[in-house]
Amino acid sequence: MSRLCLGGASLGSMPTTFAYAVPPEDAHATVRAFFDQSEINFIDTAAIYGYDEGQPEGFGESERRIGQVVRERGGLPPGFVLSTKADRAPGANRFDGEQARRSVEGSRERLGLERLPIVYLHDPEYCSWDEVVGPGGALEILRRYRQEGVIEHLGLAGGPIDVMLRYLDLGGWEAVISHNRYTLLDRSAEPLIRACQARGIAMINAAPYGSGMLAKGPGRYRRYMYQDAPDEMVERATRLEQICQRHGVPLAAAALQFSLRDRRLASTIVGMTKPQRIRETLELARTPLPESLWAALDAAAGFA
Ligand SMILES: NC(=O)c1ccc[n+]([C@@H]2O[C@H](COP(=O)([O-])OP(=O)(O)OC[C@H]3O[C@@H](n4cnc5c(N)ncnc54)[C@H](OP(=O)(O)O)[C@@H]3O)[C@@H](O)[C@H]2O)c1
Repeated sequence: MSRLCLGGASLGSMPTTFAYAVPPEDAHATVRAFFDQSEINFIDTAAIYGYDEGQPEGFGESERRIGQVVRERGGLPPGFVLSTKADRAPGANRFDGEQARRSVEGSRERLGLERLPIVYLHDPEYCSWDEVVGPGGALEILRRYRQEGVIEHLGLAGGPIDVMLRYLDLGGWEAVISHNRYTLLDRSAEPLIRACQARGIAMINAAPYGSGMLAKGPGRYRRYMYQDAPDEMVERATRLEQICQRHGVPLAAAALQFSLRDRRLASTIVGMTKPQRIRETLELARTPLPESLWAALDAAAGFA
């Protein structure tokens, strides 16, 4: 798969999580623009994307929107890779085997795909360890689906690094997603990146803009990881933006390339909800950045 990946969380419209809604026509147009180009061949979604405070019916909405365009194209076009995630029962956080089965079957139906190229066990940090990994739990069912070939590759996706490392130790993972924790402002995923590298597991970095602040700028979008950013973080982001301005480059280019230039990462997942974002992202990825920028950004963000 390509080193850039289109992220599908906001494509499902999650107005509380992202602080703006995304109409279906924008999502469809973005996915069409994605299938119409040839440089990014990787798209990521999850069963739960679209579920948000006050909109329980949103569960599956990102997959439904992506699935509509997949159907228009007569299936996943050759050469494209799609990943989705098996999810807990929203609200209840139940994640037993039955829930995993319901989630995977729902994904196949919504996406219109018999076989799912990559499925991640998603956000286990919200769930009981025993329920997920115990006999008849979510993990057992996902492994069975992989044996049967319904799931081609099984991955692990989630947040807190200590929880991710505990799950990683179970073995059998082919890909791992971490999010918001390896950016210009947060490096806490470093131990997970090292652990994946040591085990030969594809490490995928999601949310290089910290869910938006490092793309839109702290003046326009004062949020990090789906909530209001603390003042000290906004101050650091503002310093980073000023340094980029002095170097004559966009903050978004530095944020994106911080992830892309790290060869330990197999891919970087970027959330986009407008068709022009695909071209903009490719331009940001190609923007020449002076080598001296990185040390200046590290120092300003407190990582020197
Ligand atoms: N647990 C997990 O497995 C997990 C967790 C988090 C994320 N992820 C995956 O990673 C993906 C990316 O994460 P994310 O979407 O939360 O955060 P992100 O990629 O850090 O940021 C997305 C935000 O950046 C904005 N943006 C992107 N390109 C831009 C541009 N050229 N100019 C201005 N703004 C731009 C988007 O705005 P617009 O909406 O205006 O385009 C959106 O608000 C998710 O969609 C999901 O697939 C997985």
